[in-house]
Order: sequence, then structure tokens, then C-alpha cells
Amino acid sequence: MVKVPTKLVTWDEIVEWSMGLAEVIKKSGFKPDVVVAVSRGGYVPARLICDFLLVDNLVSLQSQHWTEAAKVAEKAIIKFPYTIDLRDNKILLVDDIVDTGDTLILARDFILSEWKPRELKIAALQWISPVAKIKPDFYYIEVRDWVWFQYPWTRHEDTTQFIKRILVEEKEKREWTFNELEVKFRESYGIYVGDVYFRLALRTLVELGVLDVKDGKYLVKVSR
Ligand code: ADE
Repeated sequence: MVKVPTKLVTWDEIVEWSMGLAEVIKKSGFKPDVVVAVSRGGYVPARLICDFLLVDNLVSLQSQHWTEAAKVAEKAIIKFPYTIDLRDNKILLVDDIVDTGDTLILARDFILSEWKPRELKIAALQWISPVAKIKPDFYYIEVRDWVWFQYPWTRHEDTTQFIKRILVEEKEKREWTFNELEVKFRESYGIYVGDVYFRLALRTLVELGVLDVKDGKYLVKVSR
């Protein structure tokens, strides 16, 4: 059975954590000229940091894991490697979480070599200290036991993926009720995202051709 330790993060927690992180940055005396959001996870925290620190300039850089065809190992890549001249600027690079740190290290190294800022510091809401290859200059929460944080900005994407994983894992079961799926979801992930998101994810799985709906039941389609 799929068992992934997961924590549901609320919007209120995101505001609280971002405000706390902004306070840590402020206390350090570091005053960024430009905030750079690591896309996509850093977008919301970066925008909130701009608000709390009253920073006008916000740009983003997409650094993400990429599964190469026929390879299990994922590699981090900069998706749109554009160049801007930030020679006179102090940059604050913001991400939601430092897990392995691979995407953040790649973003940092790209910015240092291509944008050449005067200074660059890293901030993240959360830092998973036992697995991270780097420690951010600023963080709000140190996580000591790995969990998947179900952030509000990936609620639909994660829920769709989580349900799909359940269907793959329980491939002998071809017919599910909403209730059975909900119970299995809670068992597997230890959280529930609420009916609105759960129904949205199920609708997405129907649109993607993974499920069919018939007489109020969800039928798993045979994959070819
Ligand atoms: N992105 C990378 N690692 C993550 C984690 N542990 N939780 C949520 N998002 C992540």
C-alpha cells in the first residue's frame, strides 16, 4: 500500500511562515534590491516576501527536475535560461522548500554566472536539514523528518497524482465509489484535501482518460 507521510499546509500557514521568514531576513540587515522566485514553488512565498519587506522588484527563474527518457534518475534543468544584467543588485533567491537542494543549487549557480549580482542570498520557508545539500541563508522551519508538504498551490496537481498512484497500486480493483477512494486516500496519505479539490481531481482523471464515471461509480479504464 502507498504510504507517504504528508502534511496538509493551509494558506494561513503560508502567510504566517512567509511573515516569519521576512522577519528573519529583516533582522539580519540584508536588504534585497530584487527578489527572484524559483519557479514554480517559490512564486507565492516570493510574492509575500516582497509584500512584507516592501520590495518592488520580482522576477522568476524556472529550475526544475526533469526525467530524461528511459532514465530513472532526475536531473535539474533551467527551463528558460534567459539573461539579465543584475551587476549592481543584491538578490534574494526564494523557494518554498529546500529538500535535496538540487534545483536551488542549479538556480543559484546559473544566476551567479549569468546575471552576476553584487550579492545573492537564499531564503526558503522550510529546510529539510538531514537531506539537503545546502543550508539556506534564511529559513523559517527546519524539518528533521522528511514529509511531503502538500502546499495549497499544488493541491489539484498533487491530489490528481496521489489518486492515480492509488489506482496503479490497487490495479485489480476496477470500480470505486467516491467514498472508497476518499477512505483509501486518507489511509495512504494521512490527510484529506476536502471534497472540492477531491472532486476536481477526479474530474481531471476522467478528462485525462484514466477514469470513467458510470452510475455514480468511477471505473478504471484499461491502459493501452
Ligand atoms: N518539493 C520538493 N520536496 C518537497 C517536499 N518534501 N514537500 C513538498 N514539495 C516539495
